[in-house]
Amino acid sequence: MKNIILVGFMGTGKTVVAQELARRLKREYVSLDELIEEREKRPITKIFAESGENYFRDVESQVVKEISDRENLVIDAGGGVVIREENVKNLKKNGVLICLKASPEVIFKRTKNYTHRPLLNVTQPLERIKELLKIREPYYACADYFIDTSEVSISEVVEKILEIVKNK
Ligand code: S3P
Repeated sequence: MKNIILVGFMGTGKTVVAQELARRLKREYVSLDELIEEREKRPITKIFAESGENYFRDVESQVVKEISDRENLVIDAGGGVVIREENVKNLKKNGVLICLKASPEVIFKRTKNYTHRPLLNVTQPLERIKELLKIREPYYACADYFIDTSEVSISEVVEKILEIVKNK
């Protein structure tokens, strides 16, 4: 069975949806961010602060390359994974890419009480979210399917994905 990979901006619900989806499908759940932190033995905020975003992206690409050889996983990818073409190519080799979307206001509401996302630890997070969404839009377009999570519950999103992957 092909991997199911959830991509999309921070705060669109990838983690909660991927965990519930994995439970429903009795598949293994894999978080790329967790794999990166385990490998680096430090949290993502520290990787960004001490080694920079480019270094983080290199580790992310390495982890993507390794995980793409496996099958039957539900993969919770970091919001920036689609920026590098090689990641998209590797993930698609063995998987279907589902992009979760949400409005900037909803993303802001869902992310504002957390500090583990270095890209949003800025003085004007809502403005930053809008800016980044604009920059990233063409990259997220590489996904095979899109689901807007702004107004729907986790279980509704999971049902939609189950319908999509039924025959995969
Ligand atoms: C990032 C998203 C984060 C994490 C890192 C960078 C991004 O993952 O990979 O902070 O560039 O959008 P989540 O989307 O799971 O928060």
